[in-house]
Amino acid sequence: MEEIWQQLEQHQQQLANIHLRELFAGNPQRFEQFSLQICDLLFDYSKNRLNKDTIDLLCKFLEKRDFKTWQDQMFNGEEINHTEQRAALHIALRNRSNQPILVDSKDVMPEINTVLNKISNFVEKVHSGEWKGFTGQPIEFIVNIGIGGSDLGPKMVTEALENYHHPRLQAFFISNLDALQLHRVLKKINPETTLFVIASKTFSTQETMTNAQSARRWLIEKLGDEQAVSKHFVAVSTSTEQVKTFGIDPANMFEFWDWVGGRYSLWSAIGLSIALMIGMKNFEELLTGAHEMDQHFRNAPLKENMPVLLGLIGFWYNNFFGTTSQAILPYDCALEHLPAYLQQLEMESNGKRVSRNGETLNYRTCPVIWGTLGNNGQHAFYQLLHQGTQLIPSDFIVSAESQFEKYGQQNALLSNALAQTQALMQGRNLEETRQGLKDLTEMQVPHRVFLGNQPSNTIAYKRLTPKILGSLLALYEHKVFVQSICWNINPFDQWGVELGKQMAAALLPALENSQTTFNYDASTNGLLTYLKAQRT
Ligand code: F6P
Repeated sequence: MEEIWQQLEQHQQQLANIHLRELFAGNPQRFEQFSLQICDLLFDYSKNRLNKDTIDLLCKFLEKRDFKTWQDQMFNGEEINHTEQRAALHIALRNRSNQPILVDSKDVMPEINTVLNKISNFVEKVHSGEWKGFTGQPIEFIVNIGIGGSDLGPKMVTEALENYHHPRLQAFFISNLDALQLHRVLKKINPETTLFVIASKTFSTQETMTNAQSARRWLIEKLGDEQAVSKHFVAVSTSTEQVKTFGIDPANMFEFWDWVGGRYSLWSAIGLSIALMIGMKNFEELLTGAHEMDQHFRNAPLKENMPVLLGLIGFWYNNFFGTTSQAILPYDCALEHLPAYLQQLEMESNGKRVSRNGETLNYRTCPVIWGTLGNNGQHAFYQLLHQGTQLIPSDFIVSAESQFEKYGQQNALLSNALAQTQALMQGRNLEETRQGLKDLTEMQVPHRVFLGNQPSNTIAYKRLTPKILGSLLALYEHKVFVQSICWNINPFDQWGVELGKQMAAALLPALENSQTTFNYDASTNGLLTYLKAQRT
């Protein structure tokens, strides 16, 4: 084992029995020393089980993993996604400096700008009413059909920025193969005023293509003419051929490139639904926020680098404290879908068991990412965070102001956010419990004890704007990259999704035909028999 890894293990042993309370008591400057303000975000990492030596060692570890070289390779458009032989250049999509970025010796900025202009013109036409549906009506409903990165990012951002929505437009998102989801949307929209955005990098994903075909049939049934499709369907994809095959005119296609990974694609034309809903100016603000975080990530020293610190702290718990999950707890209703978005971003990127070279790893990689709106979580699963048996690091994401502060609820929300991080950190020991709750019997006391020492980060901001959201999302993207370097894995492929897709394709005929006996494993045979019987 590398020497630096051993040093980190030894250092963990020194810290293992020190309570966070002691760390705070011993250092009145702890907040100043372990917090950072960048891109209108405050990152308080003082409530973590670490000290200055921890940060020094973790940064040394990252340097030993050639972090700077990998970072340069990513920013320079090199083929760092080696298993798919491509670059990972989401940073180019929001490169507001417009400095050339070369892929295979070709500057990608001109084509990025061309697509951004095309999006901008289209958004303008939809907003002004110049783009009309088949019967001459302006668009009122935007229905994004996509899945994974072609759904989670656009949906999360669109819903987070509801305050910025165009007043005439409403957005819906369809991702699931269960036709119920499609049905729920179709009954709320008017075919004459609906624009379907079919978002798929490959334009071959089963869920998206199936929903898109059904939506197409619905539209033709309702408007009575196949010609209507061109006024109500646009495509976002890397594949012109597949778009044509589906029956969408490439003139109504918004292009992106294979060097944009699905879960990193909301900054590309995949963000078309976002741009339609919040307008181009605000979409560009989102890009600007991300670009500013990119610049910070690229240039700030490791110890003052927000994504680096966020990534290293996660690595510290995952690999030295044996934690297996990470909670994401927004105290901002606008970010309701952030945990689901981060699940794909983190787990599809770093849920890997072999190194870049294909060697089996003998350490843990990505933890399970989970969470929900913090205030709701308090009345559901926080019990386990406070008194369960596991150490679970949490990210509290806190907005100082509410997007809708009419009846003065925000102080109560903020007091809860602060109290939770404080309670997780401090706990209430046996003595305090006995003293504070005098009427308790001895039997009741242990049930009221909180050990505390549960770590958390707090990321806070004034109020969510497109720019701040852009910075926040880029922060997490780069955190994922930092951790991939710690674990020596390729975060930009996702081969783990393939086997299930192939098996689903192989099983489909058994569901479609009249076969009643099957030749799979006993469980699959039994389940097929049961499910088919229920349907007849
Ligand atoms: O199956 C996983 C995945 O490939 C994700 O990585 C991706 O975001 C999603 O499917 C959707 O893919 P596409 O945009 O090609 O439809």
